[in-house]
Order: sequence, then structure tokens, then C-alpha cells
Amino acid sequence: MAIAEKFLSDTSAQRAIRVTLRPAIASDADLLWRWRGEWTVRRHQPLHELSLVQLRSDVASQRMADLYRSRGEKFQWMVSANGEPVGWITLVVSNWEHGLAEVGYALANEFQGSGVMTLALGQLLEDLFHHTKIERLEARCAVDNQPSRRVLEKNGFRYEGLLRGYFKLRGTRVDNLLFAHLRQDYLTRR
Ligand SMILES: CC(C)(COP(=O)(O)OP(=O)(O)OC[C@H]1O[C@@H](n2cnc3c(N)ncnc32)[C@H](O)[C@@H]1OP(=O)(O)O)[C@@H](O)C(=O)NCCC(=O)NCCS
Repeated sequence: MAIAEKFLSDTSAQRAIRVTLRPAIASDADLLWRWRGEWTVRRHQPLHELSLVQLRSDVASQRMADLYRSRGEKFQWMVSANGEPVGWITLVVSNWEHGLAEVGYALANEFQGSGVMTLALGQLLEDLFHHTKIERLEARCAVDNQPSRRVLEKNGFRYEGLLRGYFKLRGTRVDNLLFAHLRQDYLTRR
């Protein structure tokens, strides 16, 4: 079921893109697996090597209802544009007692650059901060991943600092930028 729907006005093409989110299901694993192999998706982040079988079982084991009962660790949504799956968002909850979680996202190569993720993340925030006990949502992005940085800033995430040598990417340790959004800030935004 879609959380909500929003319309993106694409002035250049004079058309609207309808962006929706729904929980990922086992049959999405093939698409997710394919997208995870794309160069642009892996360029800034070290994705774990997962077999299709592992990915399918990962997605199949998620219980989205747990998120709303303050249980569970990992949740994934499919992002669609005009009804077609184009990417995904992952949420990892590290601590329910303090309401701490981290979000990650990606669009398939051919759907990048159309502003879809800004809307998709906006929909997820609306749901998380209104209907779950998440208080602080973190996100990281590579120092030179400008589109990702903009997606976060446009959704009200604040830059909190430079994470030096955060992980190893293709054999080299790279820095990351830490962003976070607080429920309190979200609910009192103008
Ligand atoms: C990051 C990603 C999700 C962005 O999604 P998107 O919907 O395609 O975002 P867009 O490319 O439309 O750009 C978002 C914003 O960044 C801006 N932007 C894009 N490239 C930019 C650049 N080189 N410099 C500055 N701003 C840039 C766009 O203008 C847009 O801002 P605006 O809406 O104010 O005009 C998508 O590119 C992606 O999936 N990349 C591969 C995986 C990835 O990097 N995931 C994030 C890991 S942290």
C-alpha cells in the first residue's frame, strides 16, 4: 500500500511524475539485485555483496507492521514513478529506546536526475515522524555526492559533521558527511 502520493512538476517535459512508496516484497528482489549491481548506484557507497537468494529472504522476512510497534531493525520500501518501480529506501533502526535510525536510498541509473528521491524521502519522513517512535533519523552521503546532499537538505536534514575515513570504498578509506533530522524539528517546521 502506498504511504501517500505526490506529484512532481517537471517543467521541462511539461508533465507530472507521480511518486509513490510501498513496502518491498520478495518479488522485488530481482529488481533490487539488478539495481545494486549498477555502477552509479555503487559509486559512492560500499553495498554488501548479497546473492539474489539472500536478498529475497531479507525482503521476505521484513514485517512492516513492526515499525509501527517499535520493533524490528531493517525495513525497505520501493519507490515508484508513475507506477513503475525506480528505486528503494532502506531504514535501519539502531536503538528503539532512544528512537535512533538511519536511512539510505538509491534510484536505478536511468531514473536518476529527475528529482524523484526528494519527494519519496519526504513521504517517508511524514510517515516516520507521525506514526513511529523514531526521534532522530540520520543519513550519510559521500563528500562529492551533491544530488544526495541536496535530497537531504531539501527534506530538512541538517549537516552535523565530517566522518573521516568512514568506510572503505574500492580499497580506499573515504570520508562521509553526516546529516540528521529530528522529529521535534520536523513537527515544528514552517
Ligand atoms: C542520490 C540520488 C538518490 C538523488 O536522487 P534524484 O532524485 O535523482 O536527485 P536529482 O539528481 O534530481 O538531484 C537532487 C538535487 O540535487 C541537485 N544536483 C544534482 N547534481 C548536482 C551537482 N553536481 N551539484 C549540485 N547540485 C546537484 C539537483 O539540481 C537537485 O536539486 P534541485 O531539486 O534543487 O534542483 C540518485 O542520484 C541516486 O540514486 N544516486 C545513486 C545512489 C546514491 O548515490 N545514493 C545515495 C547514497 S548516500
